[in-house]
Amino acid sequence: MTASTDVLFRPFRIKSLDLPNRIVMAPMTRTFAPAGIPGAANAAYYRRRAEGGVGLILSEGTVIDRPASRNHPNIPFFHGEAALAGWQQVIDEVHAAGGKMAPQIWHTGSTVGPDREWKPDAPVESPSGLLAPDKPRGVAMTEQDIEATIAAFAKAAADSKRLGFDTVELHGAHGYLIDQFFWAGTNTRTDGYGGATIADRSRFAVEVVKAVRAAVGPDFPVILRLSQWKQQDYTARLATTPDEMAAWLQPLVDAGADVLHCSQRRFWEPEFPEIDGENGLNFAGWAKKLTGAATISVGSVGLSGEFIAAFGGETSEHSDLDKLVERMERDEFDLIAVGRALISNPDWVHKVQAGAGEALKGFSPAALAELV
Ligand SMILES: Cc1cc2nc3c(=O)[nH]c(=O)nc-3n(C[C@H](O)[C@H](O)[C@H](O)COP(=O)(O)O)c2cc1C
Repeated sequence: MTASTDVLFRPFRIKSLDLPNRIVMAPMTRTFAPAGIPGAANAAYYRRRAEGGVGLILSEGTVIDRPASRNHPNIPFFHGEAALAGWQQVIDEVHAAGGKMAPQIWHTGSTVGPDREWKPDAPVESPSGLLAPDKPRGVAMTEQDIEATIAAFAKAAADSKRLGFDTVELHGAHGYLIDQFFWAGTNTRTDGYGGATIADRSRFAVEVVKAVRAAVGPDFPVILRLSQWKQQDYTARLATTPDEMAAWLQPLVDAGADVLHCSQRRFWEPEFPEIDGENGLNFAGWAKKLTGAATISVGSVGLSGEFIAAFGGETSEHSDLDKLVERMERDEFDLIAVGRALISNPDWVHKVQAGAGEALKGFSPAALAELV
């Protein structure tokens, strides 16, 4: 007998953002924006999820105005007249369907994209010219590069507000540029943007968040996505104790991040089981407890397998939401993001609300071949 999911359908409000339920569409790169311009197909894809009842839609990662900010030619820009006109159509259609949405603002740093041979025209940039420990790729950013990159994040955030988006998310997770500053494995700088502690290496992110906050004003919510794990190393951790986690997160909240989107591959995994046990708080739970900020959790909601295995070709079956309901009932985190299950089921939210979970499809990686 599946637990009642009513707890997912409580409204949520933060600053100017009013959500009818707790369900967020996770940001998912689809590489369906030829020449970086989102079009009618992208708008229809997001509109379908709004029609399906998603509380807050986060766009796929969309890149800032830096010459090497993306690692695949079909990742959308979030700059330039044509791309922003495409995004205008996206947000207008989502709003017409009653949805709320943020773009996920991104710089891919020195990572390699799905087409491993493709390279941007300009040199790939990152804090120390490293893709991973002892793996050089591209160039180390100068202080001028850093300043221009912070300004480009702020400009993108200002544009998201100008276009009418409801909030903005900054991608600070998964081993991309912002995370490459956090991680000692990719940040070996000896200037003020590097250092021995996570607080030292957070300076870049703090400056990005401050610039974004200044650009959008006090009432526009700013979401920051973070992860302990990196695509370069799934076992990497930026914070190995709650104290270290507080030293990482509190300055980001003080800088102006309203919501921390804490990325895990399985939402039920405890962050510090040595402290509160195997059923202990997850990353979003600890982030909320330590900072008082609102948090979003994520990872394998409604599915039997996790998403990295999906990239390796593994299919997942539909699974029940009991573990999620239990954690939501104890208010461990505020919102829950759903990724692949929303690719397979644009109406996932309505089906869950109607108690029709058995009608939901699992996830097959073949679904990534088309944008529906
Ligand atoms: C096809 C695909 C593309 C993704 N692209 C992004 C992205 O652009 N930005 C991001 O922060 N996470 C990205 N992710 C991770 C998802 O946001 C999410 O955290 C992950 O899929 C786990 O959620 P799920 O198990 O519900 O799918 C992607 C995941 C998938 C499956």
